[in-house]
Amino acid sequence: MPQLSIVVPTFNEAGNVTELRDRVARALEGVDWEMIFVDDDSPDGTADKVRALAQSDARVRCLQRIGRRGLASACIEGMLASSAPVVAVMDADLQHDERLLRAMFEALQKDANLDVVVGSRYVEGGGIGAWKQSRAFLSRLATRLSRSVLKADLKDPMSGFFMIRHAAALRCIRQGMSGVGFKILLDLFASSPTPLRYLELPYQFRERFSGESKLDTTVAWEYFIMLLDRFFGRVVPIRFIAFTLVGGFGLLVHLLVLSVCFKLLSMPFLWAQTAATLVAMTSNFVLNNLLTYRDMRLRGWQLLRGWISFTLACSVGALANVGIAAWLFSQQASWVLSAFAGVVVGAVWNYAITAIYTWNKPKGG
Ligand code: GDD
Ligand code: MN
Repeated sequence: MPQLSIVVPTFNEAGNVTELRDRVARALEGVDWEMIFVDDDSPDGTADKVRALAQSDARVRCLQRIGRRGLASACIEGMLASSAPVVAVMDADLQHDERLLRAMFEALQKDANLDVVVGSRYVEGGGIGAWKQSRAFLSRLATRLSRSVLKADLKDPMSGFFMIRHAAALRCIRQGMSGVGFKILLDLFASSPTPLRYLELPYQFRERFSGESKLDTTVAWEYFIMLLDRFFGRVVPIRFIAFTLVGGFGLLVHLLVLSVCFKLLSMPFLWAQTAATLVAMTSNFVLNNLLTYRDMRLRGWQLLRGWISFTLACSVGALANVGIAAWLFSQQASWVLSAFAGVVVGAVWNYAITAIYTWNKPKGG
């Protein structure tokens, strides 16, 4: 049985897997390890590459996921696929220094009171290499924000490079990790039932060996949503919060289109209001599809079906909104309270109905 599983999430990393295996093999000579690649059906054929490698090296395994995306959930499933007492998570692109693995492993062997060892760019001796200033700034900002949800004074909670006891990881996962987004380590720390006992070891973040980064603009959104989830997730479903934020943005879109049509183009108010409603609904649909339901995004013809069901559901929601508000107002409730109640009922309706008919939410998802 391996003493150590190294979980490597991959998306389009075909050019890196062999090099990573080679370097890890060199760095961990004498340790009984295995490497679990968790690939989300990369179009560049990473999974085939991994399976070919596994044919000649039994320490290599491929866990392929089809129809799903996500770094954190890939790491979680990779950890769950391990039967070793210790698991590491590291990127495939060789930005994480594999030579640190041995020191991490030894630290866990030596100190039974340690749950996790973190590869850190922000302790003495660590660094971020040749990062652009803007990226360095964003990373620091995100790091600072994340401290608000942490039960620990981690210097690099955004690190994607760490080693943890399997039992400790399991406890965190069972406690209900969100599994959303990029920040797996932060999520682990925030989900642990008892504070994780940790050690940070420095390393220099390197340049990518081959391929491109997957950190796109929606990652920032996901990160923000994860923070919200940590604050409110136990009370309000996180998708509902995302849905509401998108709805709030839709209101701005509505007012913008309305003022252009009504004021600038002098359209009759009814037309202008109708146009604004349609545009706002469509932009809400698109944004929810991109962000709120990123993991079950509709594509191709599905988009048309989705848009129609979304528009229908929201039209009924708007009627309910106006109906409730008008009724409350007629019962002498203040206009603010009436409007607020209408909006809440409409939003809950829209969320519930579109979750069932537009995005077909699977059980427990
Ligand atoms: N399975 C799977 N699914 N893997 C993914 C996905 C996904 O949706 N998205 C990215 N990955 C894999 C990549 O293939 C790579 O091995 C690793 O996750 C990190 O992705 P990169 O695209 O290389 O991210 P980065 O270098 O910009 O970000 C790194 O630095 C951040 C700190 O600033 C990562 O280490 C992050 O975890 C870290 O937080
Ligand atoms: Mn990278």
